[in-house]
Formats: sequence, structure tokens, C-alpha cells
Amino acid sequence: MAAAPPGREIVMSLVEERLEAVGRVPLAVLPTPLQEAPRLAAHLGLAGLLVKRDDLTGLAMGGNKARKLEYDLAPTASGEFDVVLTVGGPQSNHAVLTAAAARRLGLEAKLVLGGPDVAHRKGNLLLGALYGAETRYLLDDDANDSLAAAMEAWACELRATGRRPFLVPLGGSTPNGALGYVRAMRELAAQLGPGKVQLVAAVGSCGTLAGLALGARLFLPAARVVGISVSREADPIAARAAELAAGSAALLGLPPQLGSADVEVHDAFRGEYGVATEAGREAILESARLEGLLLDPVYTGKAMAGFFGLARSGVLDPAVPVVFLHTGGLPILFSFDDDFDDAAPFTKVFPRSAR
Ligand SMILES: Cc1ncc(COP(=O)(O)O)c(C=O)c1O
Repeated sequence: MAAAPPGREIVMSLVEERLEAVGRVPLAVLPTPLQEAPRLAAHLGLAGLLVKRDDLTGLAMGGNKARKLEYDLAPTASGEFDVVLTVGGPQSNHAVLTAAAARRLGLEAKLVLGGPDVAHRKGNLLLGALYGAETRYLLDDDANDSLAAAMEAWACELRATGRRPFLVPLGGSTPNGALGYVRAMRELAAQLGPGKVQLVAAVGSCGTLAGLALGARLFLPAARVVGISVSREADPIAARAAELAAGSAALLGLPPQLGSADVEVHDAFRGEYGVATEAGREAILESARLEGLLLDPVYTGKAMAGFFGLARSGVLDPAVPVVFLHTGGLPILFSFDDDFDDAAPFTKVFPRSAR
């Protein structure tokens, strides 16, 4: 194999240096495993399929947010703050991972969530309660601006009582947070070695996709990164991911490495945020039955359905191996129990003595 040109070597050693120099608090169990999924690959007619198990990052039952929070929460290492605030939807993985991370760092967490009324605190709401995360729930309002305003107002109240809040924006999707996925691409490059690969991941607030796209440019240049939007249209996602990636590149001392036209996003598989789609439900059942892999209806189920769709329609190249990034979100499953009631026969058998 020809040696890399010296120019690239110098740039990469500077990138490595900068990646280590940006503030970070270790939170995730890394590296996450990269596992073969041979039955799903055969089912879809693909040469190879690997699952990058970021559902095993070890914080609040795992997920992608652990990598982002390592960078987002770095300022709390100064000891200046005593409570972390963040925002999210009704079953926000980001919010609950932030609460878990805060506890791991010896801090308290307070959450502003919003959405349709909830009858019970299931799934992530239950975990938030276990972490003692005081929660303000905006009934029927999950608009980003409303959530951010409510968080700011709460932070003001807290400061007035002498508390020292640290605020994390929606999804932890900041230029710093996206560095978690630049680092993840370095990790994946070491696991895969060089060569072509197609990486498929769920997209919400775009920080993960931004980090993957930038990380691919730097560490895995032969990779095609494919984002599957769970709820929003593709164009604003590509623009936001490119903007975040430019911010992350600047933190590494680099000019922007990609524009929105370089960010591949598919939005045909999206649905209303927080609501399961039929294709997502099928993908969840097929993944569980073919590979013993659990997915959730809000993010990874929709991303897997998107991946199935792109594989079946030939948008993905069947000859090039695929890596499906499992971004976690499993506690959400436990708030969707009704959607899977009929997934397998369940027969109640009365003991002989009770007949
Ligand atoms: C399980 C899961 N997967 C994927 C995503 C999307 O990540 P991002 O918000 O960085 O686009 C999220 C975001 O909340 C998530 O919770």
C-alpha cells in the first residue's frame, strides 16, 4: 500500500493533538463492540453488515449521547457548577443520559421536557425519576424555542437562589458534542481498517451526523455516511450538520471540511416525532428475530427501516459492507409496550388447581 502523502500525515498528527486538547470528561465505555449481523445481511442481500454497538456506551442503558456529553459537559470539571439543565421531548434519551452523566460527575440534573400528556412515568421518564432529576413538563409543547426559554428561565430562578447551573442545549448537538462522533470515527477506523464502507445512522438534532461526516473525512475517507432522518426534512438537516461540522472542524484548527451538499440524508422513512411507524415496527421485529438485536421505535427502529429501504431499492451498494450505528434509546421501548402487544402469541394457562 502506498504511504500517505506527508502533508496529510502532518495535518492528521495536528488533528490528533487537537482532539486530545479539547476539554473532555470520560463517561462512555469505549470502544464499543463492532458485531457481525450475518442473517440480516443475507436477508437484505448485502456482502456484509456490522452493527456498531453504541447502545452499549454504559450510561443510562447506553446510547450515542454519552459520546457527545463527554465533550458537552467538559466545562463542569472546573467545579464551577452544581446542577446541569437540559431539554428534550417526552421520552428524551439525551435528557436522561445527561441526568446520568451529571450524577456520575457528582452533580444534580434538572430537565425541561415537552410533549403530549403522559399518564405514567415509563421508559426514560422512569430513569429520570431514579436519577432524581426534577422535571418540568411543558404540556403539548415540544417546540425547541419553548423548551430553551423554559430552561433559561429555570436557570435564572436557580441562580437567584445561589445555585450554579450549567446548560446543555437540545440533543447536546454542539460543535463540541459532535467531536464525540469525530472520535467515534477514529475508533471505527481502527476497528475496520481502510477500505470502502457505508455507515448508516439515525438523525435527530444532527450532532451525531455532523461528527460522523467530519470524522469520516478525517479518519475513514473511503466511508459513505448515510443519515436517516427520524422526523425532519433532509435539507435543513444537511445544512445544520454541515454548520455543526464546520464548528467542530474549527475546534480542531481546521477550515470547514464539508458543505451541506456533502451530507447525505434520507427523509422518506421519517414519521411524527415520538410516534412509531409501521416500517419501523417491522424493522424492530426483524432485527430482534434475526439477530437478537433490540431497537427502539423513535430512532433506531426508523433508522433500521430506512436502511432496509435503501438496501432493497439499491441506493446502498450491496457489494460494499454496511455498518449500522446503533445509537441506543432502548428505554423508550418500555413506553411502547402497547404497540407490540400482538408481536407473539401469549396464552394464559390456568393452573389445574384453579380450574
Ligand atoms: C437513540 C438515539 N438515536 C439517534 C439520535 C439522533 O442523534 P442526534 O440528535 O445527534 O442527531 C438520538 C437523539 O436523541 C437518540 O436518542
